[in-house]
Amino acid sequence: MSIYSDTDIVDLRSDTVTRPSPGMRCAMADAEVGDDVFGEDPTVNRLQAVAAEMLGKEAALFVPTGTMANLLGFLSQTRPGDAVLLSEDAHPFRYERANLAMVGGLLPITLPGQWGKITPETLRGRIVVSDDPHLANTTLASLENTVNRGGGACYTVEETEAFCAVAHEHGLRVHCDGARIFNAAVALGVEAARLARPCDTVSFCLSKGLGAPAGSLLAGPRETVARALAFRKMLGGGMRQAGVLAAAGLYALEHHLRDLGEDHRRAREFREALEREGAVFPMPSPTNMVYLQVRDARAVVDRLRQRGVLVLAVAADRIRVVFHRDIDDAGLRRAVEAFRAVLAESQTPC
Ligand SMILES: Cc1ncc(COP(=O)(O)O)c(C=O)c1O
Repeated sequence: MSIYSDTDIVDLRSDTVTRPSPGMRCAMADAEVGDDVFGEDPTVNRLQAVAAEMLGKEAALFVPTGTMANLLGFLSQTRPGDAVLLSEDAHPFRYERANLAMVGGLLPITLPGQWGKITPETLRGRIVVSDDPHLANTTLASLENTVNRGGGACYTVEETEAFCAVAHEHGLRVHCDGARIFNAAVALGVEAARLARPCDTVSFCLSKGLGAPAGSLLAGPRETVARALAFRKMLGGGMRQAGVLAAAGLYALEHHLRDLGEDHRRAREFREALEREGAVFPMPSPTNMVYLQVRDARAVVDRLRQRGVLVLAVAADRIRVVFHRDIDDAGLRRAVEAFRAVLAESQTPC
C-alpha cells in the first residue's frame, strides 16, 4: 500500500504521461476547426505546414500516433514482399505489434548496433538488391533518433548522413522514427532539420516530451506524403475536427520545445546522484531517459511505488526512468531520495 495520494506521485514511467499545460488547454479550446478529412481544418493545415518547415521537408501529415506515423512511412515507400532493415531494438520492430508484417506484408530484417544505432558498414552488409527470384529485395532502411531502447542515444548529423548515403547508394529509401527527434536536436545543439535532411521521411511525436495529449506527424516529399494520406484513410486514421489536437501540437512546438533541455539536465543530475551511491547504468543517458541495471527489477519497481515513485521494469534486470515536463526539481529530488532508500534497503544494489 502506498502512503502517497495521486497528486504526490512522481511518474517517471514515460514522457507520454505528460498532461496538457494550462496554456495548451486554452489553445485547444480556442482552436479554429473544420473537417480535416476534407482537408478543411485550418489548424491541422497550419500544424502540417509548420512541421514540414521545421524538418525541412516538402509536406507533413498529422496522424493520431507515432505508431501510425511510422507505419505510414513504411507503407508509402515499400511494396508487400519487400525487405526492410532496422535495428533489433527499433520501436517499429519491438513494440508496434508486428504491423510491418501484418499490414505492410514486409520482411523486417533486424540489425545489431551499440545502443540501437546501426553503423553504415552493418547496413551495407545486409542490403539485397538483386534479380534473383529467391530473394526479397531491400527497399527501405529505418533508423530511430533518439533510440528509446538505446538509453535515448542520438544519431549525430554525420552519422545520419553516413547511414543515408549507404542506403541511397543502393536505391533504398530511409525512414527516421523521430518520435523524440527534438530531444536529439536539443542534446546535439543542432536544428532538427539537419537531422531530418538526409532521411526521406521522418516521423515525430507531439505526445511525448512535448506534452500534447495526442498526435504525431510524418514529414517527407509531397508525393510520399500524398501516398501516406491514402494509407492513413485505409487505416482509419482520418480525423474530423482534429484542429483541437493540432492546436495542442502547435502550442507544444512554440512553447514546450525549449524545455526539453531541462528534462535532459534532470536526467543527468539523477544519474550523477545515483552513480555516487554505486548504482549501475548499462548505457549512457544523453537525453531524457536513464536505464538502471538491477538484480530484481519487479521488486525495485514495487518498492519505489510504495514511496510514490513510478518507473518501468523493461527487463527482469533493467529499469527505465524517463524525465519529462511534468517532473520539476522537487520531483527529481523525490526520485533520488526514493532510489537511494530502495538501493540501501538491499544488501547489495537490488
Ligand atoms: C521511439 C518510438 N517510436 C514510436 C513510438 C510510438 O508512439 P505512439 O505511442 O504514439 O504510437 C514510441 C512510443 O513510445 C517510441 O518511443
